[in-house]
Amino acid sequence: MKIVVTAGPTREYLDPVRFLSNPSTGKMGFSVAAEAARRGHDVTLIAGPVALKTPSGVRRVDVVSAREMLEKSLESLKHPNTQTVFVSTAAVADWRPATCAAQKLKKHEMSSTLKLVRNPDILKTISQLSKHPNTPTPQRPNLLLVGFAAETNDVLAEAARKCREKGLAFIVANDVTEAGSGFGTATDRVTFVYPDGRQEKFPLMTKRRVAAALVRTVERLSAEGGRLSAEGGGDFVRSRPSRGQSRRDP
Ligand code: PMT
Repeated sequence: MKIVVTAGPTREYLDPVRFLSNPSTGKMGFSVAAEAARRGHDVTLIAGPVALKTPSGVRRVDVVSAREMLEKSLESLKHPNTQTVFVSTAAVADWRPATCAAQKLKKHEMSSTLKLVRNPDILKTISQLSKHPNTPTPQRPNLLLVGFAAETNDVLAEAARKCREKGLAFIVANDVTEAGSGFGTATDRVTFVYPDGRQEKFPLMTKRRVAAALVRTVERLSAEGGRLSAEGGGDFVRSRPSRGQSRRDP
């Protein structure tokens, strides 16, 4: 199976030395890529600026901005007949400065307000390309989209909303306020949230084990043409959302 993984942050420059970004280190995405390659998949890793070594057997494409990450992601999905999974672990900047100066801005040239414009949503763009004849779509069984949601509040409700809005097979929710979870940590406590509201809760575990659970799940989903079987992956607690959680979304 072909697995494309995005990882790390994006940087949105306002001049050659200043940028907007976030604390993602790429650990989660590199763990997914490493695990997928270890299990024999054909892996492309599209990485924002991070200081990690390329995992063995992985094809790496380095990018800086969200727009570049979108461009390389679309390029990597050009073969719709291959069974493909797109795993978006990257913390993509939603906004970028409206302009980027060619030279370092002097203090007196800068204003106290920064004009921003929206960046493209990579997952949503891929999800919405369904009418393009040569592009795989989430509706076709040969492309599965998997997202991540780093949240600080209403974690599961927000994750469920993003899962539906972005047309995902499932989304991995992590509460980044919890110790040992989220940006830069070696571990994570995650919940896989499915479009029908089903949830799989995992204990705190290494990102490598989260990656292993994710890859096993996409293998199972692909084999089943996008539907999750009743058996689940084994070493975790399976639960349904409480009534409130699945209906609280705005
Ligand atoms: O890299 P680490 O230090 O190991 O940290 C891992 C992580 C915390 C970055 C990772 O576990 C994680 O949660 N990644 C998602 C970060 C996030 O906040 O995503 P989001 O809620 O903004 O977006 C939801 C989904 O849409 C994500 O899959 C994201 O990759 C995708 N997205 C978001 C914005 C955008 N413009 N394009 C996108 O494709």
